Amino acid sequence: MNNKKIAVIGLGYVGLPLASLCAVKDYQVVGFESNQKIVDILSCGKSHIIDIKVEALLSKANDSGNFHPTANNEKLADCVAYLICVPTPINSNNDPDIKPLISALDVIAPYINKDDLIVVESTVFPGTCDDIVLPYLEEKTGKKVGVDFQLAHCPERVNPGDDFWTTENIPRVVGATTQKGVKAAADLYVSILGGDLFDVRDIRKSLRPKISIADTKSGYEISQPPLGSVTMMRSIRDAEAVKAMENTVRDVNIAFVNELAKISDVLNLDVVDVIDGMSTKPFGKGPFFPGAGVGGHCIAVDPEWLKDAAKRAGYMPEIIQLARNTNNGMPEYAISLLQDALNEKALPIKGTRITVLGVAYKKNVDDARESPFFEIHNVLKKKGAELSVYDSWISKENTSDTLEETLKGSKAIFIVTDHDDCINQLKNMDLANLGIKVVVDGRNCLDSESLTAQGILYRGVGRR
Ligand SMILES: NC(=O)c1ccc[n+]([C@@H]2O[C@H](COP(=O)([O-])OP(=O)(O)OC[C@H]3O[C@@H](n4cnc5c(N)ncnc54)[C@H](O)[C@@H]3O)[C@@H](O)[C@H]2O)c1
Repeated sequence: MNNKKIAVIGLGYVGLPLASLCAVKDYQVVGFESNQKIVDILSCGKSHIIDIKVEALLSKANDSGNFHPTANNEKLADCVAYLICVPTPINSNNDPDIKPLISALDVIAPYINKDDLIVVESTVFPGTCDDIVLPYLEEKTGKKVGVDFQLAHCPERVNPGDDFWTTENIPRVVGATTQKGVKAAADLYVSILGGDLFDVRDIRKSLRPKISIADTKSGYEISQPPLGSVTMMRSIRDAEAVKAMENTVRDVNIAFVNELAKISDVLNLDVVDVIDGMSTKPFGKGPFFPGAGVGGHCIAVDPEWLKDAAKRAGYMPEIIQLARNTNNGMPEYAISLLQDALNEKALPIKGTRITVLGVAYKKNVDDARESPFFEIHNVLKKKGAELSVYDSWISKENTSDTLEETLKGSKAIFIVTDHDDCINQLKNMDLANLGIKVVVDGRNCLDSESLTAQGILYRGVGRR
């Protein structure tokens, strides 16, 4: 299929590296992006996303001459595959917002020809392709899915900021409405990723006995799928569920360790040491770590899509809701830690200068979607704190150009995001000398002992 013309719809965190990779693998890639400003940046050969891996891949794609970013939908004519990577957010009521997905279908519908392949990469709730995308496309095109063209789902699992797992090697799953469709999609992704092809029914056969000297019957684990592998699911719904459920499993586990952190606070334990200790047990998944809030476009969003689908089908998933409530409550909990710590130092929140470190939802990315920063900032502001802000990856909210400058006059530091460069700088500073009395470490990334030795009151989430 290489040298064929394919389209990637939406050139964000997911679509840009995917389009670049396809171009590097010799496909002619039309990168269709509705935001003209992004197209302008990409057309100059630059990236609108700050990520070393994405920038390197884009540079190779530009060198190949195969990547063509555009906001002109006419360029979509004659593509043989359309990979949809548009956002799938939630609205203010936490309900799934499928408008961007529908707008992407509207864009491609006029260009769909016989035997074309449509792949939804965006994260969607189980049933979205069968119940919404399929009838919508059939009505718009007057063509039959599975007969005239194929519809597949291949959820993206990329982990921005991860040095190892990237668009180039993360194992993928695909599902489609027909056998022909799943094979076509799997072949496309194998040609892009270069890994092995599996059938999901064979994954269990790769179960291997756990190596255990003490007890050989202690259990089994699934061996790590090889880099860049593609696994064919039995249905498009199963492929949708893989993504929605794997992120929900993560959300629930994070909620659980957040609860363990609260227990650790009342029992005077160091939750990070305890988790590190638990992780020496050589089987089971994890570790997960607590923190001042869960953000991002995946973990904070996908469980809501899954919950919505289950609710509409007649089942209210209580643990998912509880996990969401727990994780949504963590910014407030971390603020209560700050309030108590300031109190111990006889400092009120009102009128005290506090530096909030980090705007991004996680370290080493320039993405602030659903970031706990916003709630923390708003609440502290409402309580009358004098706020300074610094994020080394996102400058929009920064109150000064450098970390040192930002910290001037602050009595407390509240770490929301543990960007490596920023935390390394912080570790080399004489914070006590700068007048810092309290550090609330919302990511448990600092060494409490060295701060305590400087006379600074340290509070982590579940550790002191
Ligand atoms: N960001 C992640 O880490 C990540 C990881 C795995 C999966 N996902 C999923 O991938 C999907 C995309 O996420 P993202 O982070 O890349 O979003 P993003 O906002 O970074 O990028 C989406 C892009 O699509 C463009 N767009 C919107 N509607 C369009 C249309 N009709 N036609 C053309 N372009 C359009 C937007 O302008 C934007 O540039 C979501 O479903 C998300 O849940 C994201």
